[in-house]
Amino acid sequence: MSDLTARPEHKFTFGLWTVGNPGRDPFGDPTRAPVDPVDSVHRLAELGAWGISLHDNDLVPWGSSAAEHERIVGRFDAALKETGLQVGMATTNLFGHPAFKDGAFTSNDRGVRRAAIGKAMRSIDLGAQLGAKTYVFWGGREGTEVGVAKDPRDALDRYREAINVLAEYAVEQDYGMRFALEPKPNEPRGDIFLPTVGHALHFISTLDRPEMVGVNPEVAHETMAGLSFLHGVGQALWAEKLFHIDLNAQRIGRYDQDFRFGAEDLKEAFLLVRLLESAGYDGPRHFDAHAYRSEDAAGVWDFARGCMRTYVALAEKAQHFDSLPEVQEALAAASTPDLGIATCDGVSEAEVLKGEVDGLDALGERGYGNEALDQLVIEVLLGVK
Ligand code: GCO
Ligand code: MN
Ligand code: MN
Repeated sequence: MSDLTARPEHKFTFGLWTVGNPGRDPFGDPTRAPVDPVDSVHRLAELGAWGISLHDNDLVPWGSSAAEHERIVGRFDAALKETGLQVGMATTNLFGHPAFKDGAFTSNDRGVRRAAIGKAMRSIDLGAQLGAKTYVFWGGREGTEVGVAKDPRDALDRYREAINVLAEYAVEQDYGMRFALEPKPNEPRGDIFLPTVGHALHFISTLDRPEMVGVNPEVAHETMAGLSFLHGVGQALWAEKLFHIDLNAQRIGRYDQDFRFGAEDLKEAFLLVRLLESAGYDGPRHFDAHAYRSEDAAGVWDFARGCMRTYVALAEKAQHFDSLPEVQEALAAASTPDLGIATCDGVSEAEVLKGEVDGLDALGERGYGNEALDQLVIEVLLGVK
């Protein structure tokens, strides 16, 4: 049996809100007691995690006095120092307060938009204080149920304005931070702006400081939209914009499930881990998921351990898969490596390329061996190969 124990070098992180999730859902009250963030730090360090992430209000409850803020942050910082746990990313809660019911950066109310930028600034200060180098923006409330109420062009102008101002702020303060935008198609809004990785990548190209901003794709979010998460992450890597990643599990066509990493669609999870590892992604492997509502406090740590063990196991499986001579043969039969070769020498070959059209009938004869190749993935995953 291989050793699936998580170690800090794996760079696993969990949101305070993930292991601290009390099991509340739209139909039912919490099933678990609140967890002290300091306990989460100790527990995660014991389990071999590298870091944690947080929203401002996961740590400092909304409405705390300045003195309480100081005490809470000091105690938390001491726990980080004691355990060596890092803050992999920080973010702002711009969705919980009733004022954000029509959006934060894209609320139709200018007063709300201004306060939202201010809250993000305070929260960026807190993230910097705790050593976060990545700042995530998940626009959960940036959307609408009523299409006629918001011109999407105006909303995107305001969204861009907010990110531009905040990027300028982080640079001015010399925080050395990068931003990562997290797309999601819906939930909690009927429709959310920047619904997919592709939308976010284009939006980033319109910013004042595009080099400072990347994406934080989440398994559940692209899957909710019925898209291939593998391709979303692939395009983010291709654009050199994979600044962070949210790992969990989700079935297509369901509510936002946030299950333990690998709990659904093991093949997609395998291909994702294989891609991240082979691409040399060196950011946090961040789990944005939570334990089933049926779990007690012990079940939460089974959940956390499970996320990390599955990732380590899949990374090992990916290595094993690629080391098999028959896999290399099957990849060659599918011409997979050939896709990495330039198609032509450019327009100087125009006449030759036109001539090659006559070869299409012959080219149509071949097979690509994809059945055999995919079956190898299945057999490696089943442990029979
Ligand atoms: C969700 C999102 C959030 C964000 C978090 C950090 O669907 O609820 O994934 O969990 O990731 O707010 O930005
Ligand atoms: Mn999510
Ligand atoms: Mn997320």
